[in-house]
Amino acid sequence: MKTRIIGTGSCLPETIVTNDDLSKIMDTSDEWISSRTGIKERRLVKEETTAGMSVQAARMAMENAGISPQEIDLIIVGTITGDYLTPSTACEIQAAIGAKNAVAFDINAACSGFMFALHTADAYFKAGIYKTALVLGAETLSKIMDWNDRSTCVLFGDGAGAVVARADETGLLAYEQGSDGMKGKVLACRDRRNNNPLVQESKEPEYVHMDGQEVYKFAVTTVPASIRKVLDEAGLKAEEIDYFILHQANIRIIQSVAKRLKVAEDRFPISLDHCGNISAASVPILLDEMNRKGLLKQGMKIVLSGFGGGLTWGSAVLEW
Ligand code: UT7
Repeated sequence: MKTRIIGTGSCLPETIVTNDDLSKIMDTSDEWISSRTGIKERRLVKEETTAGMSVQAARMAMENAGISPQEIDLIIVGTITGDYLTPSTACEIQAAIGAKNAVAFDINAACSGFMFALHTADAYFKAGIYKTALVLGAETLSKIMDWNDRSTCVLFGDGAGAVVARADETGLLAYEQGSDGMKGKVLACRDRRNNNPLVQESKEPEYVHMDGQEVYKFAVTTVPASIRKVLDEAGLKAEEIDYFILHQANIRIIQSVAKRLKVAEDRFPISLDHCGNISAASVPILLDEMNRKGLLKQGMKIVLSGFGGGLTWGSAVLEW
């Protein structure tokens, strides 16, 4: 039994914030951001919420798959920026779409969240427990940024991406995932202040704090190794892959992965130029953009790979 993606959807906030817009409120420039990251603009929420964007993406994915909410028996959302600690974003989606037969929960694996969620759905399918899942990555990262730290806040954006996954004869051919909690603090964000009157408050920063160069080194070594592992497991060579859909953190990371795998860069589609880094949402949003452009054809072999906070990573090879 394999996991097949049968529908995709996505939702971005309305407001576009360009690099030039950012340079009006902080000491940065389009030249610095574009040349170091490839990012030109990102979408940031004003009225939108993580659950609201997720619901729109989920509805699009269900329409694309041609299924009703009652057919969904599992909803998993990769997110670190839900609107509530409880209920989960997945439960909010369940309520909004009326998927009353579903079990719903979130997964916290930062930028690998969608990949971990997809693998979790795959494990349920293989165990014969569930057959149809909505799997999402959704983030409102703008709310956890330190807008006085130009080295992080310019990188990230908001949005949600969704797929409908179903147990089928073909689909996910191989999967690999990992974590390195020992390096967790190189990309960290503390949760809310402790409200317990007996507790002395910690001085840890409450917004995203990142050692960019450490994350960069981690990504350019771990991602190619992880992709090689899934290719080996699937019995495929890199040149047999039609598209490599990577987490959209930085164009230089993607170029380095392409070079290390000896694959032409044009097989690495990009959305970071107009979306920035949307953590768990970046892979499903890019997948949906490609699907809607008609670029994904039945039988194509596609690699998906996510990596980031935790540290965590996950890669998959799938047949479309
Ligand atoms: O989902 C995973 C998320 N994480 C990542 O993708 C991070 C991976 N890392 C990176 O992409 C890169 O490390 C960054 C893009 C974050 C930073 O690039 P870098 O080449 O490692 O720059 P740096 O941190 O070494 O900073 C170089 C200079 C510094 O100035 P000085 O000390 O050389 O005078 C920074 O203060 O660039 C300065 N700088 C900026 N200048 C203009 C840092 N941020 C900015 C900015 N605008 N936004």
